[in-house]
Amino acid sequence: MAYENIEVRTEGGKVGIITLNRPKALNALNGALMDELGIALKAFDADEAIGCMVITGSEKAFAAGADISAMAKFTYTDVYKEDFITRNWETIRSIRKPVIAAVSGFALGGGCELAMMCDFIIAADNAKFGQPEIKIGIIPGAGGTQRLPRIVGKARALEMMLSAQPVESEFAAEIGLVNGVFSSDDLDSKTHAYAQMLATRSPGAQAQIKRLVNEGLDLPLPQALALERQALPAILESADYAEGLLAFEEKRAPRFAALNRK
Ligand code: CAA
Repeated sequence: MAYENIEVRTEGGKVGIITLNRPKALNALNGALMDELGIALKAFDADEAIGCMVITGSEKAFAAGADISAMAKFTYTDVYKEDFITRNWETIRSIRKPVIAAVSGFALGGGCELAMMCDFIIAADNAKFGQPEIKIGIIPGAGGTQRLPRIVGKARALEMMLSAQPVESEFAAEIGLVNGVFSSDDLDSKTHAYAQMLATRSPGAQAQIKRLVNEGLDLPLPQALALERQALPAILESADYAEGLLAFEEKRAPRFAALNRK
């Protein structure tokens, strides 16, 4: 498929890399870009050679938010009819393989929200994370008011959303928004090495862990623990578990089946 707003490639055969590519608008997110991102993510999820995905941007911007110019033309009816944001912004949540956001430069508004939808955020030391929507008189609309407090706590989340002031990557790591910080020069190589390592882990167990963590976070603890207990017996019957045990006994690296292999 020919993409206009993203670039798609693989690295080392196992990692799918999606680069947001609207440089003139600092990768501002519009419907077309989000549609393409969803298509590319689903294609990598269905590709049995791929074990991990990375979403990244340019050195200056991961994404500077939802596309304000596009939004400026929206009427209430457009937003309702187009199902703006609800239609396709949450596709990442349905991806079963690990998805890493590799963030350099601005991750603002919808850009910060997009990074938060990924499983991990790895940041360059020049990255800035923020929810500046209040500066144009609106609220974060792609999960920011709900995901940010769940990740960094209410006080930090309110500080970021009510003030519009961005936080730098080192501080973002301190408050738990970011998993790791590297120099801009090292961001790609460190992210790719980490993604290659993730791609060697059991795809079936990874998919279950992602599902349990994401669904469990929305539930009270007793129901969340019940989910985990329901999932465990099937995992103990899985081919990956048999291979994992054998590899342990034979003191070698396991060779797990691809997630989509029939
Ligand atoms: N939407 C559309 N275009 C954007 C954009 C956005 N979110 N952010 C930047 N751009 C465009 C600018 O309009 C500019 O285009 P022109 O060259 O055609 O004028 C180009 O990108 C470069 O931007 P700047 O000249 O402003 O670059 P800068 O380095 O001086 O500043 C910035 C960078 C601080 C990120 C600034 O561009 C900015 O504040 N952008 C808006 C950030 C923002 O408010 N994001 C939230 C959007 S609303 C949202 O995301 C809602 C939601 O939750 C879903």
